[in-house]
Amino acid sequence: MKKIIILLSVLSLGCKTQNNMVQPTGLVANAAMVVSAREEASKIGVEIMRRGGNAFDAMVATELALAVAYPFAGNIGGGGFMVYRKANGEIGSLDYREKAPLAATKDMFLDENGNVIKGKSTESPLAIGIPGTVAGVFAVHEKLGSLPIEEILKPVIELAERGVVVTKKQENRLNDYRDKIIKVNGDKTLFATAFKENDIIKYPALAATLKRISKNGRDEFYKGETAKILVNYLQEKGAIITLEDLDKYEAKWRTPLIFDYKDLKVISMAPPSSGGICLAQIFKMAEPFDLAKMGHNSTEAIQVIVEAERRAYADRSYFLGDPDFVKTPLKELTSDDYLKQRMSNFSFEKATLSSEMKEGKVMYNESTETTHYSIVDQFGNAVSSTTTLNDGYGSKYYCDELGFFLNNEMDDFSSKPGEPNLFGLVGNEANSIAPQKRMLSSMTPTIVEKNGKLFMVVGSPGGSTIITSVLQTILNVYEYSLSMQDAVNAPRFHHQWLPDLITFEPNTFDTTTFETLKSKGYLINEKTNPVIGKVDAILVLPNKKLEGGADFRGDDKAVGF
Ligand code: GLY
Repeated sequence: MKKIIILLSVLSLGCKTQNNMVQPTGLVANAAMVVSAREEASKIGVEIMRRGGNAFDAMVATELALAVAYPFAGNIGGGGFMVYRKANGEIGSLDYREKAPLAATKDMFLDENGNVIKGKSTESPLAIGIPGTVAGVFAVHEKLGSLPIEEILKPVIELAERGVVVTKKQENRLNDYRDKIIKVNGDKTLFATAFKENDIIKYPALAATLKRISKNGRDEFYKGETAKILVNYLQEKGAIITLEDLDKYEAKWRTPLIFDYKDLKVISMAPPSSGGICLAQIFKMAEPFDLAKMGHNSTEAIQVIVEAERRAYADRSYFLGDPDFVKTPLKELTSDDYLKQRMSNFSFEKATLSSEMKEGKVMYNESTETTHYSIVDQFGNAVSSTTTLNDGYGSKYYCDELGFFLNNEMDDFSSKPGEPNLFGLVGNEANSIAPQKRMLSSMTPTIVEKNGKLFMVVGSPGGSTIITSVLQTILNVYEYSLSMQDAVNAPRFHHQWLPDLITFEPNTFDTTTFETLKSKGYLINEKTNPVIGKVDAILVLPNKKLEGGADFRGDDKAVGF
């Protein structure tokens, strides 16, 4: 099996058609496409574009359809980020990340001795941040949408009423999480039922919530009947979110983080996501090396990428947080001089040890479980959105009356400097908890231009592995001439400074690669994280058609016309 996968990857390298185009292996569409975690959501996004809607209308539809079809991570009880590029080249990004409630405190997850209380930031009602998704989709619609909101929400509401077929992977996920869901919601909750593959789950409560939102708009969720039901539910469970918290929530337009890699222009998310800045640092540190010549997933290429990742994640842990609260030295962290100096102690002979390497010196004044979708419309607009509840099914708190799960995003704050979160990421003062602050994210919705034209729309779930999955997918297409689908399918690896391990997708890499890396002092982890990222991407082919890359690791699907 191992050999077959490696062979397939190698065979598809450089497989070009007569007009020097890499042979696509994913779905090819002429004009418009959505790639998302569920076929039902991709279809609804495409249906909206067929009716004349643009990528932004499709974004609203796809985001909300995922809340129905993919409750594992799709949501209206969580938040996310969206990066866009209009057909005329105009770019922008929206932050609809959750915020800490007004009553949140820096030490809320610590005991009287200052130690982190296990599970409090992930599985208690205090783990829930103020949801941003509904504010996000309405902000997008108001600024960039074209169809009436009722028309966009209609197929989503119909899907919730009609129900969604359970896939095998979904059955397995629900089995894995059922006990935890029952523990916090009781055995009358919707997901207490042991749903099996091919069962149909109907969501009448969510349909009713979406109907009210369709009729009354954004404020229904933040001030209306839905807000009141939600706050009653949360307070009954012991959460600290109030009506005032919901009322104060705003999604925020932010300047995207932009950098060049060779002749690519990469447009990604700035803080409070660490995605764009880490991606920029890793690409820039790797740029002086000839990765293509080293070979796809060769030991040397793995070393370069891992050492760049190590350094970027060390900086992430120290410097990054919500820019509304802490000053982040973005320019300094991405400057050529700084990054050159940062890689100056790298050697192909021996691994740099994370224990001997901390954040760099910068002069300035001061699950894995998320979901991504990519959209290109028939007008040439592109949307890259990543949205999350944090862990699978978030905090597991499911408001049966409203029909959705609540996030456990508070765990993305640093509960205590140096203490790892759910993803093993350690943070510092910059990402400490404060009322109304947004927790640092790894979500990396990204759009890539080549020669000034739209080239790729890409992103992934996967907590801390999001950034490295996006990085490798872009490199797979650009440096290694893989088709979009092959680039998404290719085996991935990941390093995040601490713990000092290279995690490989199990059974996909050669044992000789491992032996060589071990001899140079690298620690190999092939056991945990069976999946690194789950990328959904779209590539604009030289003939202007679109190739989808829908990750085979999930039920992901590209749909287009
Ligand atoms: N909750 C995962 C992230 O935002 O990075």
